[in-house]
Amino acid sequence: MARPGSTVRVSLGKRSYDVLIRDGGIRHLGKYLWDLGFTGKVGVVTNPIVHRLYGRRVAKSLREAGFQSHSILIPDGERAKTLRWVSRILDELVRARFERGSVLVAFGGGVIGDITGFAAAVYLRGIPFVQVATTLVAQVDSSVGGKTGINHPLGKNLIGAFYQPCLVLLDTETLRTLPEREWVAGLAEVIKYGMIADGKFFAYLENHMSALLKLDGPVVQHVIKRCCEIKASVVAKDEREVGLRRILNYGHTIGHALESLGQYRKFIHGEAVGVGMVCEADLARDLGYCSEELVGRQRELIRRAGLPVELPSLRFGDLWSAMLHDKKVVKGQVHCVVPRTVGKVEVVALRQSSVKRWFHGRKTPGPAQGTAARQASFSLLKVNP
Ligand code: NAD
Ligand code: GLY
Repeated sequence: MARPGSTVRVSLGKRSYDVLIRDGGIRHLGKYLWDLGFTGKVGVVTNPIVHRLYGRRVAKSLREAGFQSHSILIPDGERAKTLRWVSRILDELVRARFERGSVLVAFGGGVIGDITGFAAAVYLRGIPFVQVATTLVAQVDSSVGGKTGINHPLGKNLIGAFYQPCLVLLDTETLRTLPEREWVAGLAEVIKYGMIADGKFFAYLENHMSALLKLDGPVVQHVIKRCCEIKASVVAKDEREVGLRRILNYGHTIGHALESLGQYRKFIHGEAVGVGMVCEADLARDLGYCSEELVGRQRELIRRAGLPVELPSLRFGDLWSAMLHDKKVVKGQVHCVVPRTVGKVEVVALRQSSVKRWFHGRKTPGPAQGTAARQASFSLLKVNP
C-alpha cells in the first residue's frame, strides 16, 4: 500500500484530472494506471539520471500491474528540449506500434514533462499522458496545468501545446535525491505562490523555512499540496493564459531575461525567478504599487531559502532588450506581474523610462548571496539574438 497522501483535483470539465501526492507513490504507478482504465502499452520517457535512480522501481510496478512497458531515454537537461529529441521519441513510438489507447509517462523533472507532453500531444493527434514529476519545480509547477513544449534555437518554449495530462503523480520520496541547488531553485516557485495568491501560506513559509530546507516530510507534503491547489485553481479559471494565469509568471519577466542573458548557464530557472521576484517587487515599490516593507519581507525569505537576491552586473539596454522577448509582451509593450500586498498581485504595462529610472536608482548591490552567487555576473555575456 502507498503511504497516505493527499489529492488535488484540476477541474477542467472532461479533461479534469487528479494530482496524487504520495510518498513512495512510484511503486504503485502500475496500479494508478490500471485504475484509470489503461491496459495497453506504456512508454516511459526519462533521462539517464532518473532512470538509474528509479527506473527499476517503475518498471517493476508496471510489470506487476500487467503492463508492457518501453523505456525511452533522452539526454539530461535543457539541451534535450528540442524538436530533434521529440522526433526521436516519436520514432520509438512508431517502431513499438503505440496506439491511441497507449499511454506515455513523463518520468523526471520539468524538461522531461514538457517534451513528453508535447510528444503525446502530436503523436496520432494526441495520446494520453501521465506526469510523474521528480523535481521540486516539476512537483509544484510544471507537471500541473498542461503547458507542454520545447525550445527553438532563437528562444525558450517557443514551440508547444496546451495539452493536459490524465494524471499527475508526485512522489515526495524522489525529492530526497535532488541536488541541493535544484531543491533550492524550486523554493523560488514555492515562495511565488505565497506572493501571488496566499499571504497565510507566505507566513507559513517564513515560519517553516528551516524545516523545508531540511526536507521535513509533513512540511514538504503540505507545501507541495498548497502550491498545487493554487496552481489548479488558477488553471481551472484560465487554462490558456488569456488573463488570470499570467499571475503565475510573477518574477519571470526579469527572471526569463536573466536566464537568456546568461545563456541558460549562469542561473537555473528557479534562481533567475528568485532574483526576478526581488527586482519586480522593488520596481513595483518604485512605481508606487507596494510598500518597502513588502519588498524587504520577500527579499529576506528568498535569501533564507539560499537563493541569490542580487541583480548581476549588467547594462540596462541588455536587460530591456531581453525583457522585450517575454511572452507577456503585447503590441510591443512589456507587461509585468507586480505585488500589491503579500498574496495579491496584478499585471501592469511597463514603460521603458520607468524601468530605466528604477534600474539606475537602485541601491548599490551588496555582495551576491545564495547558491548561484559565484556565477552572478554577466560582464562577458551578450543578449541572445
Ligand atoms: P530538469 O528537468 O532539468 O531537472 C533538473 C535536474 O535534476 C536534472 O539534471 C535532472 O536529471 C535531475 N533530477 C530530476 N529528478 C531527480 C531526482 N529525483 N533526483 C536527482 N536528480 C533528479 O529541471 P526542472 O527544474 O525540473 O525543470 C525545468 C524545466 O521545466 C525548464 O525547461 C522549464 O522551462 C520547464 N518548466 C515548465 C513549466 C510548465 O508549466 N510547463 C513550468 C516551469 C518550468
Ligand atoms: N508555469 C506557468 C504556468 O504554468 O502558467
